[in-house]
Amino acid sequence: MQNNNIWSHRWTFILAAVGSAVGLGNLWKFPYITGEYGGGAFVLVYLVTIALIGVPVFMAESLLGRKSRKSPVDGVTKLAKENGATPLWGGVGIMGAFTGVLILSFYSVIAGWAIHYFIRFATGALVGIDADAAGAELGNLFASPVNLTIYHTLFMAATMFIIGLGVHKGLERGVNVLLPLLFVMLIVVAIYAGINGDFGAAASFLFSFELSKLSLEGWLAALGHAFFTLSLGMGSIFVYGSYMSSESSLAKTAVTVAVLDTVVALIAGLAIFSLIFGNGLEASQGPGLLFVSLPLAFAEMPGSAFFGAFFMALVLFAALSSSISILEPIVAFFVSKGVNRVLTTLVVGLFVWLVGMLTVFSFNVLAGFTPIGEWTMFDIFDKLTSNVTLPLGGVLLSLFAAWVLTKETLVAQIPNDTVRMIWIALARFVAPLGVTFVMLKALSVPMLWALVAAVAFVALVSVVQVKAGAARQA
Ligand code: PHE
Repeated sequence: MQNNNIWSHRWTFILAAVGSAVGLGNLWKFPYITGEYGGGAFVLVYLVTIALIGVPVFMAESLLGRKSRKSPVDGVTKLAKENGATPLWGGVGIMGAFTGVLILSFYSVIAGWAIHYFIRFATGALVGIDADAAGAELGNLFASPVNLTIYHTLFMAATMFIIGLGVHKGLERGVNVLLPLLFVMLIVVAIYAGINGDFGAAASFLFSFELSKLSLEGWLAALGHAFFTLSLGMGSIFVYGSYMSSESSLAKTAVTVAVLDTVVALIAGLAIFSLIFGNGLEASQGPGLLFVSLPLAFAEMPGSAFFGAFFMALVLFAALSSSISILEPIVAFFVSKGVNRVLTTLVVGLFVWLVGMLTVFSFNVLAGFTPIGEWTMFDIFDKLTSNVTLPLGGVLLSLFAAWVLTKETLVAQIPNDTVRMIWIALARFVAPLGVTFVMLKALSVPMLWALVAAVAFVALVSVVQVKAGAARQA
């Protein structure tokens, strides 16, 4: 008999989690922030964070989801009560929901850029384009709030459509076919970029590990990106884990997802920087990097209109299999409170769309509106989530899993003694201390305040949630 709340196959969780992890974070964000923070040293910190912090936090989140079989807020609250801890822990889930709103709001705008490039490739407008024209193409896109809004709306609508229907079937099938295809296409593009661009320069830029070159801010960005790229700290992996079968190994799953995710990011990085250096462009040009270099990748390729459009379609698919994992935990929360799924999706989606308009305007009419330092609203949303609330949420979940759950639970969830011991050490000590250390050293003053506010917020909503729960029971 098929259980509707469990993935149909053991590996479907892996596919769904890879679908969530692999997205704009790998293809768009990783290359451009690596470019901004100067290359190799940044990559090194990123890789070490994935291994020592990302993997154990991933295990903690999927463990909590699988053990509770509930949405993040209810799941953590339930496990806390069962283990004699304060239900205030549920606030971590609520912070995750707010984080999800912010991330999805800009994620959708960026995915919208890919829709634009899909159309432009498909109509042959980018065939044979040179570096200057590629820059102008992006500049024109940024200058048009109307176009950006249309694309953003289309992408949000697609995300809401899938979530409104329920994640399962469509996602399972899509991920099975399209992710392997993306992988193959990415390798083709990378080989092509390597031949036509400067592969040697790209490789030495990404892999010359000189730590002294990295600023404190770069340390923080690398750490934050490890959370972002693995979808950690806001409940995505928690929710997907709640559909995970009890037999599969948490550690193997986490390592598999982390390795695949990292490989995709590194291949994308090599492809893009080969093109950037081969065409004498700036590595540090910011969020437009991917979209300036891709048209160059396909410019000289035979059948470039077709391949370019096809590749953009795959980028869009990767973005969509991530965006649904951002929306799902928020919707799952309201659905568990008895609100209709479609209605929830509409209301939350509309709200996210509205917040997204601030990102749309960050690239044109509000480009000069920089409330913190030189950061636009888009920068603020991005940094607040990646550098503050995701690491904070991830660490709290990992502390909860490793300190609050009983030994029996941990033994049942991670049966291998050695693996469990290593995980406990990483989840109890290494991850929390590592994150705290980097945050306290590198967060700027406004972001430190944001951290304090986030903690206060978690505490406050937890109290309200617990009071409301008590009132309902009375
Ligand atoms: N991991 C996704 C990416 O790299 C983004 C994401 C962040 C998804 C947080 C879910 C939660 O594109």
